[in-house]
Amino acid sequence: MTEGTLRRTLPPALDEFLIEGPCRLHGKVAISGAKNAALPALAASLLTGETVTLANVPAVADIRTMGKLLAGMGVSVDRHPDGTVVLCASELSSTEASYDLVRTMRAAILVLGPLLTRFGEAWVSLPGGCAIGVRPVDLHLKAFEAMGARIAVEKGYIHAHISRVGPQAGRLKGATIAFPMPTVTGTENVMLAAVLARGITRIENAAREPEVEDLARLLTSMGASVEGAGSSTITIEGVESLCGTAEAHGIIPDRIEAGTYLAAAALTGGDVTALDARPEHLAAFLNALAETGASVTSTSEGVRVQGAEKPRAHDIVTAPHPGFPTDLQAQFMALSTQAEGTSRIVETIFENRYLHAIELARLGADITIDGATAIVRGPRRLEGAPVTASDLRASAALVLAGLRAEGETRVRRIYHLDRGYSGMAEKLNGLGARVKRVAG
Ligand code: UD1
Repeated sequence: MTEGTLRRTLPPALDEFLIEGPCRLHGKVAISGAKNAALPALAASLLTGETVTLANVPAVADIRTMGKLLAGMGVSVDRHPDGTVVLCASELSSTEASYDLVRTMRAAILVLGPLLTRFGEAWVSLPGGCAIGVRPVDLHLKAFEAMGARIAVEKGYIHAHISRVGPQAGRLKGATIAFPMPTVTGTENVMLAAVLARGITRIENAAREPEVEDLARLLTSMGASVEGAGSSTITIEGVESLCGTAEAHGIIPDRIEAGTYLAAAALTGGDVTALDARPEHLAAFLNALAETGASVTSTSEGVRVQGAEKPRAHDIVTAPHPGFPTDLQAQFMALSTQAEGTSRIVETIFENRYLHAIELARLGADITIDGATAIVRGPRRLEGAPVTASDLRASAALVLAGLRAEGETRVRRIYHLDRGYSGMAEKLNGLGARVKRVAG
């Protein structure tokens, strides 16, 4: 076996990015379909025995993981190179989501609602800890209990089932679910379950993210009755069965991927158009970029950002949509290292989501963390160094900083990036960066 063949057969777990900086990004970049909209859409295929076709599904590792999970249950998953995925869950061989897959992707919990509501039973591994905090799934489980499911944790697995006898006879029942805080996958999981429940489910304090609305659009096209997605109250009237999609459901563009390239434009003093990006999905983030002095325009092609020569410091507080997205906090921090003055960043969604700060400091950033607040003093000259990625968005921040740093930045553990960014090195190089993917 040659080294080349060997490399192809091994997972690219230890690949690294070598970034030669500094550079100014310039041009147009294609934005892929939203990973966080595609994941619940894939899980929705479990709700019907008919064919569900999705288009604009991004080629990222989390999507492959969800595909593997569904295929392991007996769903036929047919992925085409153009981003179309055709799924059919006419018969299932298992209703189990194993630890091996769930531990690499918490969003696997999204299969719980559909399995429970259509098949009356599910075994899903408890996700366990992750780098950005505890991230429990208690709100998902309480909601299913309120809908009549019995939940137990056995040997590290969540076992959920519906009694087959009595008035409920194998079906969930509609309920009012009032979330104490908006949870994105929690809202989606309840929607996925409620569409086949008996009666009406009302979700109060629902997440208002565009991905929730996209899921409602898909479920409606499958025959579900869903009202109010995108607002904080969603009402769902359960139906007896759902059908497949008559036409392919096109996944919305990834607002976080778009935001990442636009932050890179602001950080490098460049000029980038994120093609097809929807400004209404990114309002709080684009306002913050404009506050740093960047020029932000919505064009017929997407969203264009021209970075300021000398960005200004600006404070942000992450919040559920339509607030500033936590998934763009790390990238904004990278930009803040180059802004004139002191930026205060407050992370309100996840504890421990500042692992990128210490790595940015290795490149020369001046950041102090005090609980949920990060104080970034800028501008500081960044100098290339080896850094280690810790989670998906933290990795993106390190890449962005590497574009601005003088000399070579080596970003280790980019398998985190592969979870959510499709062809990042190619896309950045298309904008004039010098990024090489190498085996670690
Ligand atoms: C989703 C996104 C993720 C994003 C996050 C917040 C997907 C696949 N992932 O994650 O990229 O960073 O929204 O925008 O869409 N919580 C509980 N108990 C629960 C559920 C949540 O306490 O049962 C807490 C979480 O710890 C967190 C907050 O609620 O503090 C919001 O988390 P949530 O919206 O659920 O995040 P995810 O859906 O996991």
